[in-house]
Amino acid sequence: MDVRTGRLLRWYDQNARTLPWREIQDPYRTWVSEIMLQQTRVETVIGYYARFLEAFPTLEALAEADEADVLKRWEGLGYYSRARNLHQGAKQVMREWGGQLPADPAALRKIHGIGPYTAGAIASIAFGLPEAAVDGNVIRVVSRLYGVTDNLGEKGARSRVEALAAGLIPVDRPGDMNQAMMDLGAMVCVPGTPDCEICPLKGVCEAERKGQAADLPRLPKAKAPKELQYDLCLVYAGNRVLMRRRTEKMLQGLWCFPLWPGWKTGARRAEEIKSAWGWPVEAVRCEGEAKHVFTHQVWRMTLYEMDAPKEAEAPEGYTFIPLRDLDSLTLPTAMKAAKKLAQARGKASGDEE
Ligand code: ADE
Repeated sequence: MDVRTGRLLRWYDQNARTLPWREIQDPYRTWVSEIMLQQTRVETVIGYYARFLEAFPTLEALAEADEADVLKRWEGLGYYSRARNLHQGAKQVMREWGGQLPADPAALRKIHGIGPYTAGAIASIAFGLPEAAVDGNVIRVVSRLYGVTDNLGEKGARSRVEALAAGLIPVDRPGDMNQAMMDLGAMVCVPGTPDCEICPLKGVCEAERKGQAADLPRLPKAKAPKELQYDLCLVYAGNRVLMRRRTEKMLQGLWCFPLWPGWKTGARRAEEIKSAWGWPVEAVRCEGEAKHVFTHQVWRMTLYEMDAPKEAEAPEGYTFIPLRDLDSLTLPTAMKAAKKLAQARGKASGDEE
């Protein structure tokens, strides 16, 4: 066994984090955890993981669930296409694999939402197959360990790091080795300034020997997210508020309040609403601003509240939702401030009744 592998596995035996998805060996659970852990911190995932498995304890239960319920359990976790793909993937596994995830990385990659990383993670952790699972943590650990100074945005550089990672995977404990690299990357070989003094790889790590650890890996510059301005209109009709279930790729299936591109005055929005939807709105109030940062976009929203006629009909594609039902829908975190306003209004009008 490679000396690096041996050292890391010994370190893992002493230092592995106690995490819920490490407690029960079940490929479905490994799948759920690995999808949730993409782009998301371990601390955040722990609670969601428990609640998701309570609602959908088996792959079959997930396959049979309504998408709206699956999204509700994902509410606040972000990157909702992960939830939709997981749900579609579960249906696919029921159809094509009799409800059992296949113990084969190539077959795993054919399942909805399972790419090379997730296939490697499930194959190694759940099935004990000698596959690498190369996420951001592993990239960092391996780039430093082998002193890879190439910019990882350049052609071929990432595959070289992946090949180096694959070379570290032992046949007897592949899942532990992948998770050892993940834990080392999260606890010791952290971004910025790693703690090389306590690292089990000290002495065999190229970057540490050359004093380059803090400079690696070299990653392509991230593009600045695009700023989008919206007016968000809370349009009330009695105890109902106007909403739309998104059909766009971004936040698909989630409920949002009407968003109008650009910033205008509330009075102008009221005019536009009247001409587009056919009923007048009045008592337009500006309630300040809200901002939400996505990976590639920043939404800057001016929040308006306004009153439509009590019996107004929702325009095509929209629905008037009773304020007391707001919690049963899945709203993205970007709608949090607006939802709070709507719920305050619901409470106030409820008190009057
Ligand atoms: N990040 C992604 N997968 C992980 C796992 N299995 N354990 C810890 N962190 C992870």
